[in-house]
Amino acid sequence: MNITSEKILVVDFGSKNAQLYARRVREQNVFCQMVGHEVTVEQIQQFNPVGLIFTDNPLNNTISDAVRQLGLPILEGMELTDTGTVQLSKFLKDTCKCSCTWTMEQFAQNAIEEIRQQVGTGRVVCGLSGGVDSSVVAALIYKAIGDRLSCIFVDTGLMRKNEAESVIKTFSQQFKTDLHALEAEELFLSKLAGVEDPQQKRKIIGHVFIDCFAQEAKKLGDAQFLAQGTIYPDIIESGIPGCKAKVIKHHHNVGGLPEDMKFELVEPLKDLFKDEVRQLGLVLGLPEEMVWRQPFPGPGLGVRCLGELTKAKLDTLREADAIVREELEKSGWARKTSQTFAVLLPVNSVGVKDGERTYENAVAIRSVNTTDFMTATWTHFPYEVLETMSDRIIAEVPGVNRVVYDISKKPSATIEWE
Ligand code: XMP
Repeated sequence: MNITSEKILVVDFGSKNAQLYARRVREQNVFCQMVGHEVTVEQIQQFNPVGLIFTDNPLNNTISDAVRQLGLPILEGMELTDTGTVQLSKFLKDTCKCSCTWTMEQFAQNAIEEIRQQVGTGRVVCGLSGGVDSSVVAALIYKAIGDRLSCIFVDTGLMRKNEAESVIKTFSQQFKTDLHALEAEELFLSKLAGVEDPQQKRKIIGHVFIDCFAQEAKKLGDAQFLAQGTIYPDIIESGIPGCKAKVIKHHHNVGGLPEDMKFELVEPLKDLFKDEVRQLGLVLGLPEEMVWRQPFPGPGLGVRCLGELTKAKLDTLREADAIVREELEKSGWARKTSQTFAVLLPVNSVGVKDGERTYENAVAIRSVNTTDFMTATWTHFPYEVLETMSDRIIAEVPGVNRVVYDISKKPSATIEWE
C-alpha cells in the first residue's frame, strides 16, 4: 500500500497557526497536506483524504456546502494544546480509522520507489551545499539510483572550518556518489578582490557559483534530471490549492542556470517540514552534525567577513567561528539557539598581550532565537558561556584581541551583518 494513501487534509481558513495543525497530525503518524478554504470538491476528491481538519476560523467559515456534504469526517475547533492532542488522536483513530503508521522509514522507502519511477534509467545531477536539505536529497537519491546520481560540490573557499572536507568525505566515502568537487577558492577570491560593498559581494558570489555549477553540469551531458531540496514550507509559500498564490519562492540554488540547460526537477522532500527532513537524514544514516546544521547563508563566510575578502581574513574568521560552535556544543546550548556564529569586523583596536601593545581585529559573536527568521531575538547565554568563547578566541586566534556580543534584535538589525 502507498503509505501516503491514508491522508488527512488540513483546510486553512487563514489561521496564523495553519502549519501547526499539519505538524500535529503528522506527529500522530498520519500523513497530511494543506489546502486553502477555497478548495473545490474536485480538488478534494483528487487528494482523496480520509478526513478533513478545519483550522481556526478568522474568515467566518466560508467553505461550500458541497464540501461539507462530501460525507468525509470533519474536525473543527481543534485545540492546539494538550487537550487537542487527545481530541485529534480520537478523530484520527476512531472517526477516520487511520492506522497511524506513517513513519520516516516508510517515507524513505516510498520516496525511493517514486524516484526510481520518475527517473527510470536516466541520470540525476544534485548540487551539494553542505546544508541539510541538499545532503538529505543526495543521500535519498543515491539509495534510489546509486551511481546514476552525480553530485556537484563547489568549494568556494567561503565554507566554515572542516566543512568542505566533511561534505567530500560523506558523499565520496560513506555514500559512494559520483562526486565532482570543484576547488574554486582562488577563482572566488580573485573575482572578489577589492570589493567591499555587501550587495556587490553577494552578486559576484552568486554568479561565480552558477558559472562553476553550470560548467561542471555540462560535462555530465547525459543527465536529464536536477535534484532540488525544495521542502513543504517552500511549496506552501508558493501557493497551495484553494488559496491565492503568494509570491512564488524561487529556490536560490538554480535560479540562475543558463537558459539552454533544461532539466526536469526531482524534488523528493517537497512534502516534508524541516524537522522531518532532519529525521529522514538520520534514517538514511547521515552524520548527526550534518543533519543538525544550522542555516548557513548561500554566500557563506563571505557575508560574515566584513568588507574586502582575503584568504587571511577568512582563515581568522574560520578559527574564531569554530571556537564559538565548539563551545556552543560543549555548553549544551547548541539546540537552544536558532543560529550562532562569529563575524570578523573591519576594525582594529588597541590591546595588550604578554606585556606588549597590540593593534588587532575585533570579532563579534551573533546568536539568535527565532521560529521564522523574519524576526529574531538575541540569545540570553549565561555569562560563563560567552566568557569561555571570548577567552578562547583571544588566546587561540592570532590577530584577534577583542570580542563583542551582538545584542541587536531583528528588526532593526538583520541576522547576518552584511
Ligand atoms: P537575515 O540576515 O536576512 O537572515 O536576517 C535571515 C536568514 O537567512 C539567511 N540568509 C541567507 N540564506 N542565502 C541564503 O541561502 C543568502 O544570501 C542569505 N542571506 C541570509 C541567514 O543566515 C538567516 O538564517
